[in-house]
Amino acid sequence: MSTIYPSLEGEFKATPESKVDPCSMVIFGAQGDLARRKLWPSLYNLDVDGLLPEQFSIFAISRRELDLDEVKEQIRSDLSEHSRRKPDDSMWMKFSERVHLFTGNLDESGTYRKLEKVLESTDKSCDTCGNTLYYLAIPPSTVFPVVEKLGETGLVDQPHDGSWTRVIFEKPFGTSLESAIELNCNIGRVLDESQIYRIDHYLAKETIQNILVFRFTNTIFEPSWNRENIDNVQITMAEDIGVGSRGRFYEEVGVIRDVMQNHLLQVLGLIAMEPPVSMEAEAIRDEKVKIFKSIRLPEDSEIGENSILGQYEGYREGPGIAADSNVPTYAALKLHIDNWRWQGVPFYIRAGKGLNNRVTEVAIEYREPPVCLFSDRDICAAHEPQVLTIRIQPHESIGLSFMIKPPGPGMDVSKAVMNFDYHDQFGYDIPDAYERVILNAMQGDATLFVRSDGVEATWRAVTPVLNYWQENPPSDFPNYREGTRGPLAADEFIARDGRRWWTE
Ligand code: BG6
Repeated sequence: MSTIYPSLEGEFKATPESKVDPCSMVIFGAQGDLARRKLWPSLYNLDVDGLLPEQFSIFAISRRELDLDEVKEQIRSDLSEHSRRKPDDSMWMKFSERVHLFTGNLDESGTYRKLEKVLESTDKSCDTCGNTLYYLAIPPSTVFPVVEKLGETGLVDQPHDGSWTRVIFEKPFGTSLESAIELNCNIGRVLDESQIYRIDHYLAKETIQNILVFRFTNTIFEPSWNRENIDNVQITMAEDIGVGSRGRFYEEVGVIRDVMQNHLLQVLGLIAMEPPVSMEAEAIRDEKVKIFKSIRLPEDSEIGENSILGQYEGYREGPGIAADSNVPTYAALKLHIDNWRWQGVPFYIRAGKGLNNRVTEVAIEYREPPVCLFSDRDICAAHEPQVLTIRIQPHESIGLSFMIKPPGPGMDVSKAVMNFDYHDQFGYDIPDAYERVILNAMQGDATLFVRSDGVEATWRAVTPVLNYWQENPPSDFPNYREGTRGPLAADEFIARDGRRWWTE
């Protein structure tokens, strides 16, 4: 796996391992929300860190005729808003020279033939050695038509001169189990598996990669990481932003397809998997896929009990959104993993937009002691379970809560927390996960990308829930106000099991 090492000053510097071949990058969806919030800032930061090759050009593909200077101005203002580093004049000059615009109708083969010519001439003038990375930041329904056209024009042929073409697929990969299988099959006719990079940027987050290190290098946790000691696991991804300008995209996906089938199940996989035989990508992927395949497929009669959906007020008024849309912006699911380690331990996963807080967190609740030994009933009542909290973002940290006796003459209990904070310990900004995935794709390192069987196994796990709600659309939408904790039903949902959410 390639590495970016923090220098003493806290900047991320190129290492020999992180060397990238000269190449062109072609972004489909370059004016979209994802590109504006993540791709342009990541490319800019990679450039500032010296991780991009000198011979590197970016083509922003647009359906409409646009003015290049205006596009650059927009990118600069997006960097000011979303980048971990604000654009500095001289760095911006250098970076903006790399940006080119390419306009054309993506449904027409002529567009791709024109693109081929442009790439050939860049290749000659900028010495990009025929290497091209295509980034498909476009809605799922438009993905295969673009790949097909790239294939027809020979743009993604595997060159025989040592150069490469690779394609990054944004998630969600498909919109259902059937469509993911079909997409895998269709793109497999155009591309070799080694050219396919299915992105899940959560896998590149430092705190998510740390789950493996935390679990498999610290022997203290492993003996208790099972049904004997753990009562339940909660994975929360709360966002304070709404859908914004992504209405058209979001109407195709909704919260389960947008972040649960991928980001949250990947986190669940890392938390629940058995120790892999090695830290090689394939070994880790094998263990995660076993977990995905062990997720119990609920009967229809259980799904109404084991899941709740929500939609924030105002969602239906957003651009590109149907006035009677039943697309959920919030969901909470209870999943069971049918294997020896986790039998009987519920995994609650929930995600929502338009909430009061931005936080992604895993909370692992340990079992209560079998008896309360204190004669004072108040002490027994005040007792809280130990909770191990892995905070993915923001304020990245790991905390363990436990009960202690506060100093004083009487016997009492109170909660204490041991906390490790990334910023206190390392003192620098953690690069965005997109920086890592873009760099790895340029390097041809697929470790942090999802394998075809993994993507199908995660779709299989959520398909019954998607089908159930498709056939039984919720009748109470919208059911929560923006800026709140989400639908009240989500608290009732977990309270019915005698439990509570640990992430506020
Ligand atoms: C994307 C989803 O994959 O992840 C977005 O499509 C979501 O809806 C985003 O906002 C969240 O990413 P992050 O890295 O900010 O947690």
